[in-house]
Amino acid sequence: MSEELKFPDNFYWGTGTAAFQVEGNTENNDWAEGAKLGKLPVIGRACDSYNRYNEDFDIAKSLGQNAHRFSIEWSRIEPEEGKFNDEEIEHYRKVIRALKERGLEPFVTLWHFTLPTWFYKMGGFENPKSPKIFARYCEHVLERLGDEAKFWVTINEPMVYVGFGYGSGLFPPFKKNVFALLRVMSNLVTSHNIIYGNLKKLNKNIEIGIAFSMVDYISNRNPINVLKAKISEYFGNLRFLNKTIKSLDFIGLNYYIPKQFGSGLKLERSDMDWEIYPKGICDLLLGLKKYTKPVFVTENGIADAGDEKRTKFIKDHLYWVAQAINKGVDVRGYLYWSLLDNYELHRGYKYRFGLVEMNYETMERHIRPSAYEYKQICETNSLKIDNINI
Ligand code: BGC
Repeated sequence: MSEELKFPDNFYWGTGTAAFQVEGNTENNDWAEGAKLGKLPVIGRACDSYNRYNEDFDIAKSLGQNAHRFSIEWSRIEPEEGKFNDEEIEHYRKVIRALKERGLEPFVTLWHFTLPTWFYKMGGFENPKSPKIFARYCEHVLERLGDEAKFWVTINEPMVYVGFGYGSGLFPPFKKNVFALLRVMSNLVTSHNIIYGNLKKLNKNIEIGIAFSMVDYISNRNPINVLKAKISEYFGNLRFLNKTIKSLDFIGLNYYIPKQFGSGLKLERSDMDWEIYPKGICDLLLGLKKYTKPVFVTENGIADAGDEKRTKFIKDHLYWVAQAINKGVDVRGYLYWSLLDNYELHRGYKYRFGLVEMNYETMERHIRPSAYEYKQICETNSLKIDNINI
């Protein structure tokens, strides 16, 4: 039996990227420092999107999309402490305008994981001055570009940043130190709350959010497992969300994986060995309902080099997004991660999340079949689905 699910009018359909993962030549940041030490794969030319963004946005437009999330590379705007580069501001102005000319609503992330080298060397967000320093950069950008875009994300995935940077030590600054982790978390909360107030004073018309990476913690009925799931949920994101909720115009939800506590579900996996659990996105959206804020799915995607699972992945997740909308969650958009294959963080270029396949030798972009399936959904603002994966 097939079903057709309509999405709300003016729903945003698109994809996301981040500066250091696609632009190329982002050499003045902590990830480049990490690569010099052999702790991270070298980024190099990436997708060369710094120069090829027009081509990328042509593709997004041709795929029926009406929104796009990208990030500004802080180290380009403020290459040295307190010294701002106006040419780079103009570069990003062109990027935003290129999106709008193509009917793609820009969602601009101010900070997506990479820190300028000078800030990294002074301790990054461990430094007590960091909220002021980060706020100064954000204000500089918004004073110049605030009229160009409506939707702004201050921080991408704060808990992933602290978890990987200060817990597992896989991201810069490669630490395993719970005290530093807590300090950084607290400075990020302070940063966001300061920035929100200051940016709203600069421009009342903008909408500001944070993109939270949320795991769906599922447990069986065993009270210990239930408790483990609740604690993970709280420390995973809810604590951070509760401390910033008054300074959010919208909530960004990045959803990739569940984590099971004794639930015993046998789930399919992606190339990266991540479990696929589409219903998780509905569980998380329902959990956000009580905050009564608009929600954008700012990321959801799969590493699937063969493009064998991507179409089903997208459709199944969207089925569950539609269920959450039916239950009253104010979801306003869905941005698949990612438009292009790109530098997949500490794992480098092996894993491929793109609707568009990258040939890193020739820089050719090749649209995958799943992108055309997604196009149908974007263009009709509805989802036809035959088989739901529960
Ligand atoms: C990040 C992206 C990343 C994606 C897939 C998210 O945590 O925001 O930068 O590429 O997950 O791992």
